[in-house]
Amino acid sequence: MKVLLLGATGNVGSRLLPALIAHKHQVVAYVRTPAKISSVATSKLDSIVVGSASDSTAIKAAILSHNCDAVVNAAGVAAMTSWASQGEFQAIFAAVVQAALEAGRERGGTPVRCWLMSGFAMLDSLKKPHLLFHYIPLFPSHKPNYQLIKSHAADTLAWSLFCASNMPPKYDTPQFPPPADASASNLVAKADAPPAWGKQYRGVPLIGNYLNIMAQAQSYYAVLENCVDFIAADLEKGLESEWIGKRVGVKEKSKVDTNTNANINIK
Ligand SMILES: NC(=O)c1ccc[n+]([C@@H]2O[C@H](COP(=O)([O-])OP(=O)(O)OC[C@H]3O[C@@H](n4cnc5c(N)ncnc54)[C@H](OP(=O)(O)O)[C@@H]3O)[C@@H](O)[C@H]2O)c1
Repeated sequence: MKVLLLGATGNVGSRLLPALIAHKHQVVAYVRTPAKISSVATSKLDSIVVGSASDSTAIKAAILSHNCDAVVNAAGVAAMTSWASQGEFQAIFAAVVQAALEAGRERGGTPVRCWLMSGFAMLDSLKKPHLLFHYIPLFPSHKPNYQLIKSHAADTLAWSLFCASNMPPKYDTPQFPPPADASASNLVAKADAPPAWGKQYRGVPLIGNYLNIMAQAQSYYAVLENCVDFIAADLEKGLESEWIGKRVGVKEKSKVDTNTNANINIK
């Protein structure tokens, strides 16, 4: 696929780039500071577009003029709490969504495939319809972003939200090609809810759901190089991906409790 990558100079985006190249995608980097892209990364790119990620007109023009089939948004950062400045993240998310929607429409109706970075708290809790956010109200700007994206049917915008918790990189810098031990196969994934969720403390009156979440949220980190491989590998499936229209939860396979009695699937 030809992929427009926003945020290619950031933590996530700079590692997405080698993963996308390794999965044989052509990458157009959309950045505001091209000088931050390394020379090795530049040599692997199809092209670079300079612009703001909150400028939906410019993003749409980049999608259309470079004939991109997919967009991956790793631009902008969600503030951790509601009392911190929320910055541009929500505006960036909305601009990317609008650009991808309009580009698909103007091109004749085939939806643009779109992966957008979101947060762990946007996944369902055991007590549906409550999200995990109801219990851990961190990174609040993910919530309006989720509300916006879910209002769009998958046949107009083929979206997926990547809802990892912490994504520590295993390697200090992006590597071309990606490290041999980085793979989506190191992760378990689930649509709309955290995979392999445990049921401990659930029966405790009143605070059971809080305890249940607090006890295991920490174990939901996922190594960044594995996460970017997951997205790059999925983009090979194009509009056949099973994750379209879904929030996607991931966890390191090595952290899954193999005592199946302790794990339940949130349906
Ligand atoms: N890292 C994690 O553990 C983690 C976990 C869960 C979710 N996420 C989510 O993943 C996303 C990326 O996180 P990150 O850690 O990669 O953040 P980061 O390292 O701070 O990167 C942010 C990127 O956004 C770009 N950007 C910001 N405003 C822009 C604008 N107006 N126009 C163009 N580009 C702009 C930055 O460009 P410049 O280089 O020019 O500043 C940079 O490339 C965020 O939404 C974050 O909330 C991250």
